[in-house]
Amino acid sequence: METDIRNQCIAFVLFGATGNLSQRLIIPALFNLFLDGYLPERFCLIGVDRSEIDSDQLRALYRNAVAQHSRRQPRDDATWQSFAKLFEYRTANLLKTESYVELRDRLEKQQQIWCSSVVHLFYMATPPSLFAPIAQGLAAAGLGKEHSPARLVVEKPMGNDLDTFRALNDVLTDTFDEPQIFRMDHFLGKETVQNVLAMRFANPLFEPIWNRRYIDHVAITVAESGGIGSRGGYYEQAGALRDMIQNHLMQLLCLVAMEPPATYDADDVRNKKMDVLRAIRPIPPELVHEFAARGQYDHGWMAGVEAAGYREEAGVKADSNTETFAAMKLYVDNWRWQGVPFYLRTGKRLAMDVAEISVRFQDVPHHSFPDVVGLNAEPTRLVIQIQPEQGIVLKFTAKEPGFHIRLHPVAMRFNYREAFRTEVPEAYETLLWDIMAGDPTLFMRADQVEAAWKLVEPVLNAWERNPAPDFPNYAAGSWGPESAEALVARNGDSWLAPTH
Ligand code: BG6
Repeated sequence: METDIRNQCIAFVLFGATGNLSQRLIIPALFNLFLDGYLPERFCLIGVDRSEIDSDQLRALYRNAVAQHSRRQPRDDATWQSFAKLFEYRTANLLKTESYVELRDRLEKQQQIWCSSVVHLFYMATPPSLFAPIAQGLAAAGLGKEHSPARLVVEKPMGNDLDTFRALNDVLTDTFDEPQIFRMDHFLGKETVQNVLAMRFANPLFEPIWNRRYIDHVAITVAESGGIGSRGGYYEQAGALRDMIQNHLMQLLCLVAMEPPATYDADDVRNKKMDVLRAIRPIPPELVHEFAARGQYDHGWMAGVEAAGYREEAGVKADSNTETFAAMKLYVDNWRWQGVPFYLRTGKRLAMDVAEISVRFQDVPHHSFPDVVGLNAEPTRLVIQIQPEQGIVLKFTAKEPGFHIRLHPVAMRFNYREAFRTEVPEAYETLLWDIMAGDPTLFMRADQVEAAWKLVEPVLNAWERNPAPDFPNYAAGSWGPESAEALVARNGDSWLAPTH
């Protein structure tokens, strides 16, 4: 959506202003938007939290946040000062109604200063237990549904399962209208992820072969080398399935599998994704072991440094049953994808940081070359590299130079940085810009979140009912548990090494 947001008036209310998410992601993203001239001239950020600090202390905190987490730094002090003067801080107890009444008064004052219709953007960068109280507090103060230029931004975790998601969503949709609610899945803001649709639907080349007749399977890997760090408290309640598969990996699957939308309008795109989620074959509770695998990292060696096991991390129970690795095999029951497995895997403390979608094409129907000639040949694959490499690699087979016919795997590459010679914005920059522009295309509609919870729920339940007898079952620095290999080996497949 091409919208000029620079003429708008935006009051950005950041709940949880002193928290980790604000400092690590939101403020650095806003700073980069500011540097590029993407913030409206009439923009203010009202930070709200319970810490007893003042606006100057908030500015100092954010100066440090930008120094540590932003992809660019202020050119000089004047640049920083012009950004810093956009924000102010208010101490508030978010469980008390008065806090929202005071906030409303402050927003009304801003309206009088700007003499214009101000868009109120309420960003909940708080612990999830505050999502419902904030939405209710805002609505009770007259800042919710009836107040049309308002947007509410919700981060994950959105519930812990289907029931808790529904309960939270009921509160959100009682207090705000669905189009006002922006549910974040930050993977959707990544350039390379958005490019999946551009690649598929802006080129005539891929679509004719993008189906069960030519594709053998799709493997989606999001591997992280880091452990859970200081997030033990959160992670113990979450685990890899909730933390990554229910949202990020499921969305990647939707982008690979969806039908072409009639237009790039938010609901056209989201309806097509919804069709995929509805077509995914539910996993029968008694067959969870055939469709899902779990793991938990043990101590191990990573680049010559010893890494602690999950159960030794701060905030983690000594006998924790939480999975730090999860893999799933899913089938999309429709005409395009019948019988094609989609493998999803993600984990902490894996061998490297890499996120990629590997589309493996079927073998040729007939091998004309003598066997020995094709020894080195590999199946044709299209790899969409999400991070750290950003690009697309087509792996195919070519003839080696020389008098004999020998086949060898080769690659054709597209790389973002080389092709566009520009820095790629962070996902949060894209998403914050979209929220300000009021474009919900890259945000989760409630039905999508609900469908994703339904799909993972049989696995969550089975894993909770039956604690893993073999945890911890993979060494830090490895590629995860053997059961993940077995999951795909049952179909005669294997996880291929990430593409360089
Ligand atoms: C978050 C998860 O949603 O995504 C984290 O909660 C994970 O556990 C992170 O590390 C990965 O995102 P990115 O953008 O750093 O790859």
